[in-house]
Amino acid sequence: MTQSLLQDIKVTKTENSKISQVDFNNLSFGSTFSDHMLVCDYKNGTWEAPEVIPYQPISLDPSSKIFHYGQSIFEGMKAYKDENGDVFLFRPLDNFKRLNISAKRLAIPELPEAFFMEGLKTLLEVDKNWIPTTQGSSLYIRPFVFASGKGFHASPADAYKFIIATAPSGSYFAGKVKVLIEEKYSRSANGGVGYAKAGGNYAGQFYPTQLAVAKGYNQVIWTDDNKHEYIEEAGAMNIFVRINDSLLTAPTNDRILDGITRKSIIEIAKQEGINVEVRPISVTEVVNAAKNGSLKEMFGAGTAAVISPISVFGYQGTDYTLPELDNDYASSLKKRITDIQYNRSEDPFGWRI
Ligand code: COI
Repeated sequence: MTQSLLQDIKVTKTENSKISQVDFNNLSFGSTFSDHMLVCDYKNGTWEAPEVIPYQPISLDPSSKIFHYGQSIFEGMKAYKDENGDVFLFRPLDNFKRLNISAKRLAIPELPEAFFMEGLKTLLEVDKNWIPTTQGSSLYIRPFVFASGKGFHASPADAYKFIIATAPSGSYFAGKVKVLIEEKYSRSANGGVGYAKAGGNYAGQFYPTQLAVAKGYNQVIWTDDNKHEYIEEAGAMNIFVRINDSLLTAPTNDRILDGITRKSIIEIAKQEGINVEVRPISVTEVVNAAKNGSLKEMFGAGTAAVISPISVFGYQGTDYTLPELDNDYASSLKKRITDIQYNRSEDPFGWRI
């Protein structure tokens, strides 16, 4: 990662680093936070200069619009350290661009690229000792923007905060997941905000997921909001299905997040010579493939979990078990993408910076 170019980002360092209290060999996901954060305020029609300050609570007026109208968006990224101690990001400009796509949909003012990119690099320079090196660990980066402006009027706020907080993290899921194909609830709808990384998209998933968990599943497979005939996402991730030797994933649209891991997996799989089909995947097709033995794999793909293999899917009261394969796509694609991310291989796509 090249050093920050923005000379004028003010940095105030903590006098009480917490780093010696952290067990970097036993990290869970997103629950330990680094010493500093980047903060940037939008006021009087403009984004003010970002600053790096000690990680700390935020004080907000009770009428801040985030609490009432949910103007809130975020990104998920990671910083990786290789065995020489060099630090890398993976396609960070894509996260920046998607944050602004989400901002536009939620009527939040778009951020200048330099504030995001240079702010992130400055923060990572300050907290570089927080980037873990243990196998499978990374520094999870959470950029987010929310309405701090005051008032009960249901209209966009006049003030916002952009923050980047980071968390040294281990894996998101331990092992394979059992999923339930959703037949009643929807994550998103045409014309809605499903393609944006809006906080509310995740809040809306919690209750149907709780119902699935009560039935013994870990996650919900989201289906289209119209007739629940097509599978679209896996929990908070994009979904891939392998039928025979073809790898299928749903096309992005109003309802589906344009996942950076998703699009990277598509490119890597194509380069590996795998037949990739980006097209609607019907539940009937998946159930029939499970019945006739052509369904080989299903997995979720996202920044946090990278690739999360599915062991079982439930649909209309029946559980379908996926086969255990020796040469599964999930493992080989995960290896390829993480080798690029951690600088363990060439990066033919130019994704690593
Ligand atoms: C990610 O994969 O980064 C996600 O967005 C999942 C997140 C909600 C933990």
